[in-house]
Amino acid sequence: MEVKWYNKAVINNQLIMAKFVNLFKTKKFGKLKVKNRLVMPPMVRNYAEKDGRSNSRYLKHIESIAAGGVGTMILEASYISEEGKGFSNQLGIHKDSVIPGLKKLARTAHKYKTAIGIQLYHAGRETSSHITGMQTVAPSPIPDPTEQEMPHALTVGEIKKIIGKYGAAALRAKKAGLDFVEIHGAHGYLITQFLSPFSNKRTDEYGGSDENRFKFLQEVYYAVRRAVGPDFPVLVRLSGDEFVPEGLKIKDTIKISKKLETLGADGLHISAGNYASYNQGIMIPPMAMPEGPLVELAAAVKKAVNIPVIAVAKIHNPKLAELLVKTGQADFVGIGRTLLADPEWPNKVKAGKLADINNCIACNQGCIGRLFAGQEVWCTVSPKTGREEMFAKKARARKRVAVIGAGPGGLTAAIVAAGRGHKVALYEKTKKLGGQLIPAARSPYRAGWEILRQRLITDLNKTKVTVHTGTIINAGTLKKSKFDVIILASGSFAIKPHIPGIEKGNIVISRDLFENKVQAVGDIVIIGGGCLGLQTAEFLAVKNHKVTLVEMSPNLAVEMPGDEKYLLLQRLTNMHVSILTETEVLSIEPRAVVVQQGEITKKIQADTIVACLGSKPNNELGTTLKQSAKKIMVVGDAVAPRRVTDAVAEGALAALKI
Ligand SMILES: Cc1cc2nc3c(=O)[nH]c(=O)nc-3n(C[C@H](O)[C@H](O)[C@H](O)COP(=O)(O)O)c2cc1C
Ligand code: SF4
Repeated sequence: MEVKWYNKAVINNQLIMAKFVNLFKTKKFGKLKVKNRLVMPPMVRNYAEKDGRSNSRYLKHIESIAAGGVGTMILEASYISEEGKGFSNQLGIHKDSVIPGLKKLARTAHKYKTAIGIQLYHAGRETSSHITGMQTVAPSPIPDPTEQEMPHALTVGEIKKIIGKYGAAALRAKKAGLDFVEIHGAHGYLITQFLSPFSNKRTDEYGGSDENRFKFLQEVYYAVRRAVGPDFPVLVRLSGDEFVPEGLKIKDTIKISKKLETLGADGLHISAGNYASYNQGIMIPPMAMPEGPLVELAAAVKKAVNIPVIAVAKIHNPKLAELLVKTGQADFVGIGRTLLADPEWPNKVKAGKLADINNCIACNQGCIGRLFAGQEVWCTVSPKTGREEMFAKKARARKRVAVIGAGPGGLTAAIVAAGRGHKVALYEKTKKLGGQLIPAARSPYRAGWEILRQRLITDLNKTKVTVHTGTIINAGTLKKSKFDVIILASGSFAIKPHIPGIEKGNIVISRDLFENKVQAVGDIVIIGGGCLGLQTAEFLAVKNHKVTLVEMSPNLAVEMPGDEKYLLLQRLTNMHVSILTETEVLSIEPRAVVVQQGEITKKIQADTIVACLGSKPNNELGTTLKQSAKKIMVVGDAVAPRRVTDAVAEGALAALKI
């Protein structure tokens, strides 16, 4: 499915020397006046208590965002009923015991003159019995394509009960002092399941025609409106396009939007997609997607209605945000991951301090990648996110700290430790700072890793850390300096292959290719179809090499997020990269690799063979340095090779322990 997006040149040409005046104009949702056009869209953090109550961690996190100047915050999708819960530690709004926690959130936001509302959510079939402890429910007995559990088809009586729960939840929001509610009618959850012919196959009054499929949302809207009264703003979030066959298209969303306006909705929030189309990268656009891929959907709705419209999704560039409001394509701009990466984004934009922004790099590793893996949300570029309480605690005494290795984990450890007042020395054996971020950024569509590297270097330069590049550490060097703590962030080694005939081929390690230590020539065979293998295939295919990738297992890059993999495989297909799974490399011959696929043995021409077999921890120094400091902590790939988000988090956590 093709989506349109904003061209960087357009953004830049139209907004040279932009002052962002439009972004900081006031505007109303119904009777609620908000201070600017920036909205924190709902984002489940998985920080809440198991029973859905907020807690001090949640409060501190939300306070940091409110303090950063955003005008409106929409608290995460909060389940209105137990069977509609989607994540283990999501906020709930299903019972009165959540009200005191929500009250604190409301009071805190109001301290900063930030409007705060909550998203009313029921997952329907887009959850699992592992989360809810019961069978999922849906309009029709059709399993969600990703969750793959058979849902119970709701009876009319059960539908009415759920509608009542939306009303009760909305009343709780009002009682808690929140300023508005947003009904979650997007992303394939229960309301979309009713709205969409993709998931609604009912033949009663809740299925069939457009009107019948709209009936559930209409009744939910009425229940919510009855509960909160005429003056309390009620917004609705919709998927502009579901990007699935038989799913809702923009023409349907426009019709639904008009009906909602007639009913009295106070604003519309236009996202896209559902779980089945998630991997297309439109709902939460990853690094490989351009900016603002959903803006056209919001603009189309905006044209059709007179109530405020929020545009969202990878509007990370303040110039694009300003352009959308200035040109009337949207009234408000949702900036989700942007605020996870830098809660101060609004204040910095208002002050014109764009260079100070800690940019979200759309890696999707720390936030949605972890959430969909059942974990709490982190941010790769901001280890403080979700750890605001920990970061606020002062160090008890000033310590001498050595950090070994200046990859993302080591750099973060050094910056955080220095920020806590410790005397820090950073040792890096190469001449450059950044470790694996340097080769990672060399693949197409992965420039975000260079943005992170530059940010870490800038932050390091603001500290008093003494930096020793081109320095190889041994026990003697460190003993002399009498460090209290050593943080070992020495990364990993690439695994070398052992294949019969290896000496006959021109075999290189992918890491050396990315670091420009070796060059690939002619036709390429890549051994290993993990993340690195696929990225190496793209790196070489864009240079017009004929590339064949060989992977022993049936699956490719199991550790890669689904959206990133889907988009990358599409690009590899377009570049005619040949991918052979369930294929074993038998031997290497001069300019060829011999492989076996099922019963068939064949030779593939290989002027260069690239080994992408993963890596192993480089932590031998840990033993050597045992006597050099009172405490040694190992972080990042030196523990086990994993993602950047893990290295950054572990670097920060180690520094916070000192
Ligand atoms: C960690 C995470 C959790 C999310 N949870 C929700 C949610 O609770 N409700 C919702 O409607 N959208 C949710 N989204 C989607 C966001 O609201 C937003 O539409 C999306 O992140 C794209 O905007 P952005 O590029 O500004 O982040 C979530 C996104 C992320 C990254
Ligand atoms: S983890 Fe990555 S995508 Fe998510 S908010 Fe942070 S930088 Fe952005």
